[in-house]
Amino acid sequence: MITTDKMHPELKSFIEDLKVIIKDGESEEVITENVRSRIKRLLTDDGVIPAAYKIPNPDKYTLYPVYIAPDNSFCIASAVWDVGQSTPIHDHGTWGVIGIIQGNELEIHYDVDSKNELIAVQEREFQKGDTVVCCKSDRDLHKVQCVSSIPCVGIHVYGGNIGEMERHMYDPVTGNKRTVVTAWDTVTAVE
Ligand SMILES: [Fe+2]
Repeated sequence: MITTDKMHPELKSFIEDLKVIIKDGESEEVITENVRSRIKRLLTDDGVIPAAYKIPNPDKYTLYPVYIAPDNSFCIASAVWDVGQSTPIHDHGTWGVIGIIQGNELEIHYDVDSKNELIAVQEREFQKGDTVVCCKSDRDLHKVQCVSSIPCVGIHVYGGNIGEMERHMYDPVTGNKRTVVTAWDTVTAVE
């Protein structure tokens, strides 16, 4: 996690605004749209997220913890996909909003039909500067892939501590799901 003394002023300001946007009693619809609108400002300055939080791992996609609210009510992650990397089909168990810093992402959303089979229902491609509500309780199943010739980096805001929450990965053929915790990755370079 980035310590306060090393935070870019725009990131500090973003966190303070998130605390106002994300409050008890507010609907998921309102929160996600307000976060999506606010995240745009972060994408205009390449220095907001330190370089160490944008380094891909050739073995797996990574999720670096930029900020985790002390009460776990939300978190900010830097998600990095190396060229060609893809996630399994997964859910989140909370809402999520994404702003793309670099590269192109292909996202496919799924529904589960009455036979427990996964049906692709929406395909979208995002590029630098795009902001998107990636997940809500009524649309929470997707898979994401880097489709650019450079690694994809995105700022992700979730309505909980995504590195500690139990969620699910889905078998694309059987639709069977298994419970996982996708632990935070460690930032190895100097922050
Ligand atoms: Fe996701």
